[in-house]
Amino acid sequence: MPRKAPSIAIYPGSFDPITNGHLDLIQRGSRLFDKLIVSILRNDAKEPLFSVEERIEMLREVVHVYPNVDVDSFDGLLVDHAAGRSATVMLRGIRAISDYEYELQMALMNRRLNPGLETIFLMSNEAYSFISSRLVKEVFGLGGNISGLVPPSVEARLKRRMAKVNQRGG
Ligand code: PNS
Repeated sequence: MPRKAPSIAIYPGSFDPITNGHLDLIQRGSRLFDKLIVSILRNDAKEPLFSVEERIEMLREVVHVYPNVDVDSFDGLLVDHAAGRSATVMLRGIRAISDYEYELQMALMNRRLNPGLETIFLMSNEAYSFISSRLVKEVFGLGGNISGLVPPSVEARLKRRMAKVNQRGG
């Protein structure tokens, strides 16, 4: 019987920074696929807090415990990047119904661009369904407590970044 090709999934995003919601998805995804590639979009129109290199480091610090998870980055179309890494699945999380419309649009566009790339959604863990990188940055920037929302190494990095910004400001 012919051997089945290994299942390779790509989990793309901005990860600015990675939250515990992302990490939960990575952990669950790592059990579903032979290989999971977490990939950061380089040419993002959004103004990021962390550089792509910093985000790669932050991701590596937390995913090294999963031997089948890789960290990568990409420019241009996701479908081209996925094909370059032989991925046949794109993994995304859905937190609430408000995510659905954007995710549906993206999944249908990607299917049109490459029908061979299947989008698979995992429902976010309810404990993390309200977390987004944007809100974490906002709450942290205003002095709120974000422990439990991001990995400790990311919280430490946010603290260092904020101290630097305050030093420059004062
Ligand atoms: O975490 P995000 O910001 O919601 O991730 C969005 C991302 C990176 C998955 C999306 O913007 C993307 O895939 N961009 C790459 C460009 C592309 O392929 N665009 C067409 C897809 S609809």
